[in-house]
Order: sequence, then structure tokens, then C-alpha cells
Amino acid sequence: MPGVLRVFRDVPMLLRCLITVLTALLLVPVAHALTPPADAPPEMTRRLQACMLCHGKEGRATPGGFFPRIAGKPADYLYHQLLNFRDGRRNNDGMRYLLDHLSDDYLRATALYFASLDLPYPPPLPPQGDAATLARGEALVRRGDPARELPACTSCHGAAMTGTLPAVPGLLGLPRDYLIGQLGAWQTGLRKAFAPDCMAQVAQRLAPSDIAAVASWLAAQPLPADTHPAAAPLQPLPLRCGMAPAPTERRP
Ligand code: HEC
Ligand code: HEC
Repeated sequence: MPGVLRVFRDVPMLLRCLITVLTALLLVPVAHALTPPADAPPEMTRRLQACMLCHGKEGRATPGGFFPRIAGKPADYLYHQLLNFRDGRRNNDGMRYLLDHLSDDYLRATALYFASLDLPYPPPLPPQGDAATLARGEALVRRGDPARELPACTSCHGAAMTGTLPAVPGLLGLPRDYLIGQLGAWQTGLRKAFAPDCMAQVAQRLAPSDIAAVASWLAAQPLPADTHPAAAPLQPLPLRCGMAPAPTERRP
């Protein structure tokens, strides 16, 4: 690893975040052709461009770990995550620092902006794991395990695994380590969603070897031709999942 990256990895998370954001503010005008909405206030424009430095269009690997892609995810899902980081249901120092004190309305506008971006996905990485592990991962994702009352992941995330509106994200185009990290965080309670937290119930029913199997298989799948989330689930969801006020709704 180049020396400068090693030094960067050793500085505390908050400082790293600050350096990244400051670098973003300096570099972003040349580095990214992405433009926030024309009517966005200048402060919003700067912030949204700073987001892209970590989140890129594809979600990238860096010395600090994996940054998930946010472009094109369901708007309600993104809004829920911004609330979750701000309010402590999800833990990441950099994200909390960026979102601290931002209003619900501002976070709604941010979520809607990123949901509306339609950017290409990178090709999947070569599969990690032997054929038996990958086959087991695929079976759990597509069929679940009725003996353990584990629903198929596709029953909520969509048959094409590109997510389901309004608030279930897709499972493709995410790095294996990110998937393992998120499922583990639900098991230990470090990541929570709005109650009832259906993903916590799903994660509790997964053994460590199941998590490795589903993450290995999912991370190796190519995106289908239509990468957009399904408009609605085909059947009622097998567990109840909590909802927050949607970004498209206004509270009275
Ligand atoms: C310093 C790098 C950095 C910057 C800048 C940054 N993020 Fe993040 N973001 C992360 C990391 C790391 C995660 C994953 C945290 C985890 O593991 O839970 C994340 C997660 C997210 C998620 C959840 C994605 C998902 O699939 O669940 C959303 C939404 C998000 N960020 C939005 C934003 C927005 C909006 C901005 C700009 C205001 C922003 N981020 C700026 C590092 C960053
Ligand atoms: C009962 C419906 C349901 C089932 C079944 C389900 N999920 Fe989810 N999943 C959700 C919802 C809702 C969210 C969004 C939670 C939130 O708002 O944080 C989610 C979020 C996720 C995320 C976070 C994605 C990101 O970008 O951070 C992962 C990973 C995930 N699910 C994996 C799985 C896997 C693997 C399975 C099958 C073993 C599965 N899910 C089964 C409803 C479900």
C-alpha cells in the first residue's frame, strides 16, 4: 500500500472524514460532472457533491473500507438511512458527523436527489467461495429455509433483487464485505431499522456460514438489464417491516 494511504488509514475516523470532505470541496468541481438540481441552494449543492467523493457512482473500495453506492436506491430507503445515521440507529462516525443537525426536510430532499440518479453499475467481482457455498447462498436467497422460518430474500427484495418500492433496497452491486458487515451489524444490534425491524429478525435466523454464503453469491451476480426497483412486492411481505414518513409525503 502506498505510504500516503497507510498514513491516512492511521488517522482517527473523524479527522479522516474531515480531510475527505475538505478534499471533496476542493476537487469535486473538476472530478465529477454530476450536477444537483438547478434550484438547489448552493450549500446543498456543495454537500451533495461531497457525498459523491465517497459514494462515487459505483460504491468504491478505499483504505477506510467499502462505501456503498447510493445512486438509484429507493427514495424512502435512502431517507430512512439518513435518519438512521443521524439518530443513532446506524453507526458510522463519518456519516453521523455529516448529517448532524440536518432537518428531516433537508434529508428528504437529499434522498430524493440520489434516488433520481440513473447511473451505470460496474460488472460484478469474480465469485469468492467454492461451488457448494455459492449454491447454498443462491438457495437461501431465492427460497429461504422454511424449516427455520427464514423467508426468501427475494420475497422482499424482489425477484430480480433490484429492490422493491417504496423502501426495500436492492441486493446487487454491493461488495461482499459490505453485505457481511451489514448482516452482522443487525445481529449485534449495531444497525437497526424502524420497528418492527424485519431485517433484524431475518439476520437472527442466519448462521455465520449462511451470511458468508449469501454475501458471496449476491456479490458475484450481474445486474439485470432493468436495474430499477420493482414498483411493488408481488405478494405481501412475509414479515412486517417498519416505515417512517416517506420523503414524498408532507406531514401536516
Ligand atoms: C467520508 C466518506 C463519506 C462521505 C463524505 C459520505 N458518506 Fe455516506 N456512507 C459512508 C460509509 C462508510 C457508509 C457505510 C456505513 C456502514 O457501514 O453502515 C455510508 C452509508 C451511506 C448510506 C447508506 C447506504 C445503504 O445502502 O444503506 C447513505 C444513504 C449515505 N451514506 C448517504 C450519504 C450522503 C447523502 C452523503 C453526503 C451528505 C454521504 N453519504 C457522504 C461514507 C461516506
Ligand atoms: C420481510 C422482508 C425482508 C426479507 C425477507 C429480507 N429483507 Fe433485507 N431488507 C428489508 C428491508 C425493509 C430493508 C431496509 C431496512 C432499513 O430500512 O434499514 C432491508 C435491507 C437489507 C440490507 C441492507 C442493504 C444496504 O444497502 O445496506 C441487506 C444487506 C439485506 N436486507 C439483506 C437481506 C438478505 C441477505 C435476506 C435473505 C437472507 C433478506 N435481506 C431478507 C426487508 C427484508
